[in-house]
Amino acid sequence: MIDIILATHNKDKQKELSKALNSKDVNILSLQDFPEIGEIIEDGETLTDNALIKAREVYRITGIPSISDDTGLEVDALGGAPGVFSARYAGENCSYLDNVNKILKSMSKIPIDLRGAQFKTIMVFVSEKMELVSEGSVKGLITKEAKGIGGFGYDPVFYIPEMMKTFAEMTIEEKNRISHRGIATRNMIDLLCSHQIIPNSQENA
Ligand code: IMP
Repeated sequence: MIDIILATHNKDKQKELSKALNSKDVNILSLQDFPEIGEIIEDGETLTDNALIKAREVYRITGIPSISDDTGLEVDALGGAPGVFSARYAGENCSYLDNVNKILKSMSKIPIDLRGAQFKTIMVFVSEKMELVSEGSVKGLITKEAKGIGGFGYDPVFYIPEMMKTFAEMTIEEKNRISHRGIATRNMIDLLCSHQIIPNSQENA
């Protein structure tokens, strides 16, 4: 049994990640278990920088292997924005709704065939012995209006044509199956297995 800390304060991400990683061979801890770890400033220039900043800091303080991820929404018509600034696109301390409204407004004149976007997640594992990096991405379209009440962040405006649904209209299971974070998580699990950090036999959702 190995302890791994998910280095995030975001309860929504934690829920998704725990569901995918949970098994009898991995004991998932969260930052709620370590109140002494305050907010970690993510001031890197890339998603990988930010993921490494969080996981290295949590590992440095606790000595327990840590996993963290960083996600960006890259919109073609906005030249790849908001990207690494996805969390604070509408300004410091903005809400998910502020970000959704800003993106809808910025793209109000963009026709449907030019509304392509992708979510990209970089996930890292940091321990005494090694650092591992996995990636996952998913392509979709930014809708003209918000739809659905599930998920979080930009989910109500991120539409997957193959499923004819936004992420916010999907169950957690449906989203995990195809999402950037779901893919990055499964790639990370493969890496952890191939480096014998977790056993191959484990069943992951
Ligand atoms: P983070 O750095 O991974 O927390 O992600 C940055 C921002 O991207 C978040 O604050 C959300 O606004 C957005 N985001 C990340 N993952 C998702 C997702 O799965 N769906 C919708 N928005 C997301």
